[in-house]
Amino acid sequence: LRPVKDIDAKPAKATPTLPDAQTVTEVEHYTDRLFRFRCTRPASLRFRSGEFVMIGLMDDPDPATGKVKPLLRAYSIASPSWDDELEFYSIKVPNGPLTSKLQHIQPGDEVILRPKPVGTLVHDALLPGKRIWFFATGTGIAPFASLLRDPQTYSDYDEVILTHTCREVGELTYGARLIESIRSDELLAELIGEGFHEKLRYYPTTTREESPKMGRITDLMRSGEVFRDLGVEPLCPQNDRAMVCGNLAFNLEIKAMLEEYGLREGANSQPAEYVVEKAFLD
Ligand code: A2P
Repeated sequence: LRPVKDIDAKPAKATPTLPDAQTVTEVEHYTDRLFRFRCTRPASLRFRSGEFVMIGLMDDPDPATGKVKPLLRAYSIASPSWDDELEFYSIKVPNGPLTSKLQHIQPGDEVILRPKPVGTLVHDALLPGKRIWFFATGTGIAPFASLLRDPQTYSDYDEVILTHTCREVGELTYGARLIESIRSDELLAELIGEGFHEKLRYYPTTTREESPKMGRITDLMRSGEVFRDLGVEPLCPQNDRAMVCGNLAFNLEIKAMLEEYGLREGANSQPAEYVVEKAFLD
C-alpha cells in the first residue's frame, strides 16, 4: 500500500519573494533613533558570537532602467548562536538609504540576509586573559549583546565588563534590558554567579543627558574614575582583554589608549589583547 497523503500537514511557508529572504518576527522601538528587530534564521547559518552579516531590503527601482537592486548594510548579529532566531539592533537615520525604510518593517515582512558571517570581534582573535572589557558607544553594543549571551565568555574570563556610552538615557534601554535578561536567565545566571562573586559588570554612561554616571568612557578612564567605581586596576596586557565597537572617533581614541596600556591589536590569524570594529551607520 502507498502511504496515505498527510492531509493535516501544515501549509507550506509562504514562498520568499526576495533573494535570501527571512521573515521579521518582532520589532521594538526604543527612541526616535533606535530600534531592534528579530527575524527567522536560515537553518544553515552558523556564526561566531560578535560577527556581522549583510542585511537589507530591495531598493526603489532605478528611475532610468527600472531595475531593482538589494540595498545592503553590515549589521552585527545581536543574538547568541544558540538562539533559533536572529536579532539586530539598528539606528534610524532620517535620510539613510536603508534605515529610513528598514525602520518601518513589521512582523511578517521580509528582509534580505546574506548568510556569510564575518568580523573581528570574536574570542578567537584574543589570547587568554583574566578580564574582558566590552567598550561600546550607541549601536556598537550589538555584537556584545551576542557575546554577553555566549557561555564561552564566562568560561574564558573571571570578569566581564560592559561599558556603554550614549548621548541620552533612552539610548541605554536596550543594554539595560539585555543585562536584566542575562541576570534572570537560569543558565547564564549560573555561569555568572551572584553578589560579590558576580562575573558580569555593567557600566552605562551618558554624555548629553543627566544620568547616574555622566561622561565619555575615554575621559572616565583617563581620570581613573571608572577603575575606582568598579574596584579594578587600570588595564594591563597580562590580565586584560578588550573588544571595542562604536563610532569612528571613539574607536580611534580608545584604540590609542589601549595601546598606551600596552595592549596590542589582535586578529583571527594572530590573536593578541584587543580587537576593534566600527558600529553600523547608514
Ligand atoms: P558626545 O555626546 O560627547 O559626543 P554618537 O551617537 O554620535 O555615535 O555617540 C555615541 C556616544 O559616543 C556619545 O555619548 C558620544 O559622546 C560618544 N563619543 C563620541 N566620540 C567619542 C570619542 N572620541 N571618545 C569617546 N566617546 C565618544
